[in-house]
Amino acid sequence: MTPAPAGVLDVLVLGSGVAGLSAAVRLAAPLTGPDPGLRVGVLTKAELSQSATRWAQGGVAAALGGDEDSTDLHLADTLAAGAGLCDPEAVRVLVDEGPGRVHELIALGAVFDRQPGGALDLAREGGHSTARVVHAGGAATGAEVERALVDATRASAAAVLEGWFAVDLLTDGGRCAGVVALDAAGRTVEVRARHTVLATGGAGQLFAVTTNPPEATGDGVAMALRAGVPVADIEFMQFHPTALHHPAMPRPLLSEALRGHGALLRDARGERFVDELAPRDVVSRAMAGRMQEQGADSLWLDATGLDDFGARFPTIAASLAAIGLDPAGDWLPIAPAAHYLSGGVLTDLWGATALPGLWAAGETACTGVHGANRLASNSLLEGMVFGARLSECILAGGDAPTATGVLAPVLRGETVAAGPPTHRAGPTDGAVPEVAPPDVAKARDLLQRTLTDGAGVVRSAGSLARAGQALAAVAAEVGSGPPPDRATGELANLVTVAAGLLQAADRREETRGAHARSDFPDPSPAWRCRIVLDRAGASLSPAGGPSGGVPREGA
Ligand code: SIN
Repeated sequence: MTPAPAGVLDVLVLGSGVAGLSAAVRLAAPLTGPDPGLRVGVLTKAELSQSATRWAQGGVAAALGGDEDSTDLHLADTLAAGAGLCDPEAVRVLVDEGPGRVHELIALGAVFDRQPGGALDLAREGGHSTARVVHAGGAATGAEVERALVDATRASAAAVLEGWFAVDLLTDGGRCAGVVALDAAGRTVEVRARHTVLATGGAGQLFAVTTNPPEATGDGVAMALRAGVPVADIEFMQFHPTALHHPAMPRPLLSEALRGHGALLRDARGERFVDELAPRDVVSRAMAGRMQEQGADSLWLDATGLDDFGARFPTIAASLAAIGLDPAGDWLPIAPAAHYLSGGVLTDLWGATALPGLWAAGETACTGVHGANRLASNSLLEGMVFGARLSECILAGGDAPTATGVLAPVLRGETVAAGPPTHRAGPTDGAVPEVAPPDVAKARDLLQRTLTDGAGVVRSAGSLARAGQALAAVAAEVGSGPPPDRATGELANLVTVAAGLLQAADRREETRGAHARSDFPDPSPAWRCRIVLDRAGASLSPAGGPSGGVPREGA
């Protein structure tokens, strides 16, 4: 078993997906060589290679294609998908640095699909005005990105702590000082570090139907919330429209690249009903509406017109074959599934959070690049860009957050109190489950059903109130003491993030991006701001940039 690192690490990275490992490989010295480098630890609750990154299919969006694409066009598509809540400065960083970061990953050993002439093969996905998505193994891009980064991490001097579970942040003198963790044998230990990086991924496990692996339990966001570090935009859980409707969990994903390649969406009667290349929130909402109208629990993806399916998407073809589906002849049953948390721990443009010594990157973070709805294939890109940036900032001596990006209004005290949730104690629109959750696994199951039922693709004050009441039963089961094991710790994290999500979703009385309210079906200019959660409760922060909104008192 790996012993706890002695003394104080220079950097402790929590999580081993694209964001965490993009930071770790830059911070840690090579295994051999004269430079002792920084003392870096990578702490992950599973094996190093087991992260949500390896499940990512479509690819990495970056303007690599020459004349027909540009970073300005990628910026415009990202802002449009984000439905008015992106931070334009952060998006500018993302799109400008993206192509260089892709080339750095290639130099590190990642192999992407190429055309016969050797040029990178670029795919188109929903919300993109042109083909700009680099992919690997057809639609196994995350697996290749993860393989390259894991190999590079293993070849570095970073200490790898596998099977360790970070419980809570340690703070000391107004700084983050590392974490309290359960080691691989379940003993409580302190891992102290000058810098701590939250890169623990998303929170799809809040929902009963998700494309995310079991590890996606919102750990980083929950730790930040408990430590009072500001978190924003967590009402924007993105639902992927084309998860295979099949009992397997996580739900097998039918990549957006299939629609980019010409696959069609059909309703229960076989009719087309939405632009297949619209942004993800638009498609998921249209599907939810159609499913309700037609009383259907799934719709169809028709890929029968794709004559090169097996060659272009070999991993998807294999998983369909394994369950007896042939995309050449069968329409594929689909339904939306929780896929990506667009918000997270607020950071500046360098990945620093409001707490000195604490950094965040990837799905755990809210850099402002996704706004209310992430553009397809911008997630691996964000992890690569901001994981690299925060490591470069630390190496250059960066230590404290700067008043840049989405963190700027918070650091400058420009937020205004959001007031208490309006409907939490109000009437529910259905029966609240009364089952007392008897154990951790059942409590997790109840929480997931609660969120799916009350805070899914379309929410309302009543459904959110019902979910809030059911969540209270789960929270009572968890208690407030230190968790005895990882399963209880994950459940406590899910409860913390669920409570924040419900609070923000209840406050946001409009429909915008991935947050759809049946009782407020339109976007409202008054809500063109982000909801920030911290120790003081909820506050409203300007969305940023020249077109960003200014929160209104009492909005
Ligand atoms: C997909 O391939 O559809 C998923 C990629 C992403 O989430 O951006």
